[in-house]
Amino acid sequence: MIKKCLFPAAGYGTRFLPATKAMPKEMLPILTKPLIQYGVEEAYEAGCDVISIITGRGKRAITDHFDISYELEHQIQGTDKESLLIDIRALMEKCTFTYTPQNEMKGLGDAIYKGKALVGDESPFCVILADDLCVNPGGDGVMKQMVKLYEKYRCSIVAIMEVPKDQVHKYGVISGKEIENGIYMIDNMVEKPDIDKAPSNLAIIGRYILTPDIFEIISNTKPGKNGELQITDALLTQAKKGMVLGYKFKGKRFDCGSLDGFVEATNYYYNNIEKIKKVK
Ligand code: G1P
Repeated sequence: MIKKCLFPAAGYGTRFLPATKAMPKEMLPILTKPLIQYGVEEAYEAGCDVISIITGRGKRAITDHFDISYELEHQIQGTDKESLLIDIRALMEKCTFTYTPQNEMKGLGDAIYKGKALVGDESPFCVILADDLCVNPGGDGVMKQMVKLYEKYRCSIVAIMEVPKDQVHKYGVISGKEIENGIYMIDNMVEKPDIDKAPSNLAIIGRYILTPDIFEIISNTKPGKNGELQITDALLTQAKKGMVLGYKFKGKRFDCGSLDGFVEATNYYYNNIEKIKKVK
C-alpha cells in the first residue's frame, strides 16, 4: 500500500507574476479551490493519507490552508457558508500534513531528495506537481490509476501523454517498448530536449510513483539541464538498472503553470462542475 504523497511546491511561479509575488502558485484557484487542494484530493483518492509538502519562502498560505482557521470557522458557524468548507475539512481530518523547506532552487530532483526526511526511504511514494491539474470524470483519478499499476509491476512509474513535437522542449520525454496498451518499459528519457534530440513525443507530466532506491540514485546524479538536479536523469539511471514504466493515463491534464492551461482548466471546471463532482 502506498500511503505517502510528496508535493514539491517550492518554485516561484514567475509566469504568474504579479499574482504570485506574495502568494504561492499552488494556491491559485481553479474556481474556488486552490490547485494544491485538487492535488491532495487526488492523492487521498489514491490511498495516500500522509501528505508531505516541500515548501519555500513565502509559502505560508499552503500551511495555513491545511490548518484550522478559528476566527473564520467561528464567524461562519451555523450559516450556509459552512458547506463551502466541507471538502477541505474532510481532507484535514483524514490526512496528516508534513512540511520541509527546499532552501535553494536546485531542481525537481533536489526537491524530491529533500522529501526523504518526510517520506522515509523504506516504501514507495507518490509525487504530484500541483500545477499539472488532472481530471478523469466518472473514472479513477490519475494517481489512483498509477497506484493500481504499481500493484502489478512494483516499480517506478511516470505518467505520460503525447504532445505535439514542437512542445517537447517543455517536458521530460521518454521512449520505450510498449508492453501493454499505453504502458511503456522506458529505455530512454531526456529532460526538455531540443526537438531534434527528443526520443519521441511522449512527455512526462507531474505524476510519479517512485521506489525508495531513487534517493540513493538522486544523491549520485549530477546536475543536468539548466544546471539543475533532474528527476528525469535519476529515473533514467533507475530504468537502466531495473525497470521504470511510462503510463499513458486516462483523463485530461491542464498545464496550470501556463496562462493558457490555467484559463482552459478554469473554463473546463466551470462547464463540467456537476460531472466532476459526481466522482467524489
Ligand atoms: C518538470 C519535470 C519535467 C516534466 C514536467 C511536467 O518540469 O522536470 O520532466 O515533464 O515537470 O510538468 P517543470 O515543468 O517543473 O519545469
